[in-house]
Amino acid sequence: MTEKTALKKVRFVSPAKLYKTIKEEIDSAYFDVMNKGALIDQQHLKDFETNLAKFVGTKYAVGVNSGYDALMLSVKYRVKSAEDEVIVPAHTFVASCSAIVNAGAKPVLVDVAKDFNIDCSKIEAAITPRTRGIMAVHLSGWMADMPRILEIAKKHNLWVIEDACQSLGASINGRGAGSWSAAGCWSFYPFKILGGYGDGGGITTNDADFAAWCRRMRYNGEDRATGEYFGHGMTCLLDNMQAAFLDVKLRHLPSWIVCRKAIADRYKKELGDLPNLLLPHYNVPGFDHIYQNYTLRAKEGDKFSSWMKEQGVEVLTQFRKPYYKHAGLGLKDTGFPETEALSREVCSLPMCVEITDEEVGYVIKTVRAFYGK
Ligand SMILES: Cc1ncc(COP(=O)(O)O)c(C=O)c1O
Repeated sequence: MTEKTALKKVRFVSPAKLYKTIKEEIDSAYFDVMNKGALIDQQHLKDFETNLAKFVGTKYAVGVNSGYDALMLSVKYRVKSAEDEVIVPAHTFVASCSAIVNAGAKPVLVDVAKDFNIDCSKIEAAITPRTRGIMAVHLSGWMADMPRILEIAKKHNLWVIEDACQSLGASINGRGAGSWSAAGCWSFYPFKILGGYGDGGGITTNDADFAAWCRRMRYNGEDRATGEYFGHGMTCLLDNMQAAFLDVKLRHLPSWIVCRKAIADRYKKELGDLPNLLLPHYNVPGFDHIYQNYTLRAKEGDKFSSWMKEQGVEVLTQFRKPYYKHAGLGLKDTGFPETEALSREVCSLPMCVEITDEEVGYVIKTVRAFYGK
């Protein structure tokens, strides 16, 4: 049997395969929750929040139902008028932008740079008298340039929050993503570096008032100690069961990050000679990439990604169609050349701790075969 027939498919991620490696711990968390009947706002959630805050490097963490909820609440807390403008990258998951719209503000899109994150040299041109905040987005495990963003924000008196949904564990000069701004927003969607067994999200912050507000808003505006409603809230707590699972996985995260970096190094070593590929190794001093995704650019765009899929390698092409080009979102396309260019070429290779060396080898062989190497 050849390697190709032996390995019919390399999955982008395999949650069931990963589960088997930590089955005992996950099962024990499940039975603990079930035996206690501890379902909503219980100790597992409190423990996970304490451990998440510690991991990120903030005083508080608040578990919510999704990354979107984390973003929406973080923007809503700061929006004062429907005229308020918030800067957001043109290349990101649509939820970053939708959170701004649904929180009652206006998104102002800014193009990204070669590293897929907001191009800081273009932020000031997008600032108007109505600009109130910047949503920095850290894509794929690589942080946006927070020192520069904070400098710009300070100069123009703007608040900053981080969409860190793809970058748990990333850092700049040792300071963790999600701890640089007023709010770090997290997604525990199953495919994330810390993925639950269903939707989940979180907010990290050093602001006690904001943390308390989020705790009320995630529970219909109610202060659970007094029963008083402090505003019209939502129902978006992180499930206690999910929190119990995530707490188990969080303990493994440091070693999983080491594993991801090793896979990224191997991709670099064995694909680095191919001139039509732009690999995600940016080498900025102090910046630490944790490779939530291994997102490259291939000059051949769809031809490349289709080839990978035909050979049984699951790749992601997020996003071939930039979100602002979807008519239903009602956004203006004011011209984002880098976003346009990378959208044609973007392709993420399989990257997860459950992938085997043999599978990584097959991915590499498949890429090289596309280029006749
Ligand atoms: C950059 C980014 N922002 C926001 C989100 C939204 O997170 P969720 O799917 O948990 O709502 C995601 C994840 O899907 C994301 O990758």
